[in-house]
Amino acid sequence: MLYSEKESLYQTINEQLSYLLEGEPNVLANLSNASALLKTSFPNTVFAGFYLFDGNELILGPFQGGVSCVRIALGKGVCGESAASRQTVIVGDVKTYPNYISCDSSARSEIVVSMVKEGRLLGVLDLDSSLVDDYDDLDLKYLEEFVSILLEKTEWNFSMFEEKA
Ligand code: SME
Repeated sequence: MLYSEKESLYQTINEQLSYLLEGEPNVLANLSNASALLKTSFPNTVFAGFYLFDGNELILGPFQGGVSCVRIALGKGVCGESAASRQTVIVGDVKTYPNYISCDSSARSEIVVSMVKEGRLLGVLDLDSSLVDDYDDLDLKYLEEFVSILLEKTEWNFSMFEEKA
C-alpha cells in the first residue's frame, strides 16, 4: 500500500472510530468495535486487539484474530515491553526479536501501543501482520491517535456485572 493511501485509510479509520464511539462509553463494546475496525481495515492483520492491565500483569481483552496467549507479565514480550516503557514498540521481524512471545505462527511483524490515561496504565493495543516490516512511523502516529480517541471516549470501568444498588 502506498504511503498516501495508508495515510488516508488511517484518517478514515480514526474518523470512523470517533463516530462509532460517539455517546457510547461502554468499555467492552468500544474495545470490541475498535479491534474489529482495525482487523477489517488491514487485510494482512492476523491479530488486532487489546491486553488489559489488571494492576499486576496484562490479560487478553477484546480482539479479532485467532486464539491467543492470555497472560503477559510486564516487560515480557513486545506487549509487556510497551506496557512497562509506556512507549509504542514496532518489531519489523518477529523471528529475529529476542523478547517476542509467539502466539500465532503466521505473525511476522508487530506494533504495540500502550494505553495510559491520567498517568495510569490501562493496557496495550496490539496489531500483528502476516508481512515482515508492515508497520512504520505512519502506523505509530495514527494508532497513537486511535488509542487517544478510544481513551477519551470510553469510561474505563468493568462494573456492568456488579449488582446494582
Ligand atoms: N507477540 C506478543 C504476544 C501477543 S500476540 O502477538 C497476540 C508479544 O510478544 O508480546
